[in-house]
Amino acid sequence: MDSFLKSGKLGDTASSKSSTSGISKKKDKKLQWVEKYRPRTVEDVVEQKEVVALLQECILGADLPNLLFYGPPGTGKTSTILAAARQLFGDIYKDRILELNASDDRGIQVIREKIKTYAQLSVASSRADGKACPALKIVILDEADAMTDAAQTALRRTMEKEAKTTRFCLLCNYVSRIIEPLTSRCTKFRFKPLNQSFVLERLQLICTKEDVLVDDDVLNILVKESGGDLRRAITALQSCAHLKGKGNKIALENVYDVLTVVPSDWITNFFNLCKNESDINEIIRFINDLEQQAYPCHKIFEQLNDLLIEAEISEPLKAEIGEYLAESSFRSSCSRSDFTHLLDFAVHVQEILTVPVEHRKAKAEKIARSTMINGIA
Ligand SMILES: Nc1ncnc2c1ncn2[C@@H]1O[C@H](COP(=O)(O)OP(=O)(O)OP(=O)(O)O)[C@@H](O)[C@H]1O
Ligand SMILES: [Mg+2]
Repeated sequence: MDSFLKSGKLGDTASSKSSTSGISKKKDKKLQWVEKYRPRTVEDVVEQKEVVALLQECILGADLPNLLFYGPPGTGKTSTILAAARQLFGDIYKDRILELNASDDRGIQVIREKIKTYAQLSVASSRADGKACPALKIVILDEADAMTDAAQTALRRTMEKEAKTTRFCLLCNYVSRIIEPLTSRCTKFRFKPLNQSFVLERLQLICTKEDVLVDDDVLNILVKESGGDLRRAITALQSCAHLKGKGNKIALENVYDVLTVVPSDWITNFFNLCKNESDINEIIRFINDLEQQAYPCHKIFEQLNDLLIEAEISEPLKAEIGEYLAESSFRSSCSRSDFTHLLDFAVHVQEILTVPVEHRKAKAEKIARSTMINGIA
């Protein structure tokens, strides 16, 4: 990481050497920034200290265990295992890994045949450059949480049988979807969402390398909206840079457009309309205008939630609005009528804030009773 921040170059000398040729420069230009700035050594991996420490030991000669990396997207799971493989095996690292993801068929048959056949291949204990390396291969199962329980069960035996020659690295977002017998055979690492300061540091560096013009406060919004997902942050930065073209400064609106963030004015105005006893026609007009902007409804609710947390409302009322916000957000994800969900939310918030709680309870009970009577009738 330190070396990366000092030199601004990712990875080993081999990659920096190759980037001096004209051909690689051309290739570099076409490369997506997420790939171009993917860590090439485990030291380049930002923040995930525990796993980096373990892999550094393995690179120095300690035995490599079966691994399970889990956590949210864009936090470095795939990058970390690829960087470790590159360091362990040098130029031949691609021969020493078998990468399978959810788009490959990974039913029991594949586990039994493809993985088993690969696992049984024997490999040398030296690299192409003559240096010693572990006589191992690594099977990387990306999106392991998408594998069926039957396939995971089949993997259990394979893992044990091929322990002498093969290590498995399971990557997933949801560890709860991995069966217990598999998790207990692996050393587990949770990849945390990246700290905003690290994401900012990395984006600033990419901006310097790629001659991107952007102010720090705009970059900060981009970082915040990426929610600790570095892939999302880098991809958004590249999209903004392309949108503006070379030599033009990225503006806040560009970040909002690329990440489909609703400008904060819309959210604040909407919340104020709900809070103040506004006329229903005014609310309807506002929601119609908001709909015209085609912002996704779930995003509006997500941003309303951020605003609610900071709002100057008593805690019990805040909790009540929060609960209704969660329900509205869920309902909106199940249907397409954004207008109805936003109007329903606005009216409900008005009621929470203006009608005393005992009146609302009495009203709710009356509705429940009449629904029951109608149901029986
Ligand atoms: N910890 C990190 N250190 C350095 N770069 C990172 C890190 N995490 C993510 N990145 C950047 O984001 C890109 C995507 O990372 P990666 O593919 O490793 O994420 P992932 O955790 O495997 O995500 P997913 O769960 O979606 O597969 C990388 O190419 C790299 O540029
Ligand atoms: Mg991945």
